[in-house]
Amino acid sequence: MKNRSLVSIDDFTTDEILRILDLAGEFEKTPSQPLLNGKVIGTLFFEPSTRTRLSFESAVSRLGGRIIGFSDVSNSSVSKGETLNDTIRTVSNYCDLIVMRHHIEGSARFAGEIAGIPVINAGDGANQHPSQTLLDLYSIRKTQGSLENLNIFMVGDLKYGRTVHSLVMAMSRWNATFNFISPDELKMPDEIKMYLDNLGLKYYEHSDFTRIISKADIIYMTRVQRERFPDPVEYEKVKNIYVLKNAMLGNTKESMKILHPLPRVNEIARDVDTNPKAYYFEQALNGVYTRQAIICSLLGIK
Ligand code: CP
Repeated sequence: MKNRSLVSIDDFTTDEILRILDLAGEFEKTPSQPLLNGKVIGTLFFEPSTRTRLSFESAVSRLGGRIIGFSDVSNSSVSKGETLNDTIRTVSNYCDLIVMRHHIEGSARFAGEIAGIPVINAGDGANQHPSQTLLDLYSIRKTQGSLENLNIFMVGDLKYGRTVHSLVMAMSRWNATFNFISPDELKMPDEIKMYLDNLGLKYYEHSDFTRIISKADIIYMTRVQRERFPDPVEYEKVKNIYVLKNAMLGNTKESMKILHPLPRVNEIARDVDTNPKAYYFEQALNGVYTRQAIICSLLGIK
């Protein structure tokens, strides 16, 4: 994996993904060790972030590396009209690896092609969020004991939610069954369903999941992505369409876990937080170990 970029989850083979998950497990045991001494990591966030940026920065800091970058384009020369090309070509001279979030789909692929150093896609528009996927896989394997043959429920904004697009592609390697729960306006895109069709994998689409919730191994809730709606009126119509409440969880499997990439708005009621099936804050913590594993793998650091 040395010197490669992580732009799409499909950039890595199944063996490579499993090696990253195993390495993340090692980092969970020992998160602070001086493996990145002398390394500089650039974090370029053209869109807001809490977890992704701070867990990357925590991951690097705990390994003794240094961080440069910006979390607000108004503090960078992007605000003066600098192109993505010029920003990447410049910043790649200053660091060993770039972590980038950008609103344009395909921007991370472009950056990876011109940077000359590894680029990690920290989310490109509604397209992909592969480091989130790796921490999701880590969380699923840790809680379920295996990635094989799981019944994955994905709920909410399946159209604009990049985390579910990446996660479907990843989980398809382990014979998952998918239940996609969304309103008509926010259905899983056809290209993702075609991806599953080509692999012969089963998926089902629903507008409600209360009657089938007992079958879920993982319920992956998502936020309705207000910032990606062309029309705010359309957002208002669907913004609170699914709210997972504690009272709905009585008839669920003992081993079932609720994941959410976060941030949450209203889609998980606060009374779920204390249910042992709620796993989203631990999931966010797993992001530190997984991102330590990704960075070390791409920099070829053992
Ligand atoms: N999961 C995730 O991408 O969260 P942030 O937007 O806070 O980085």
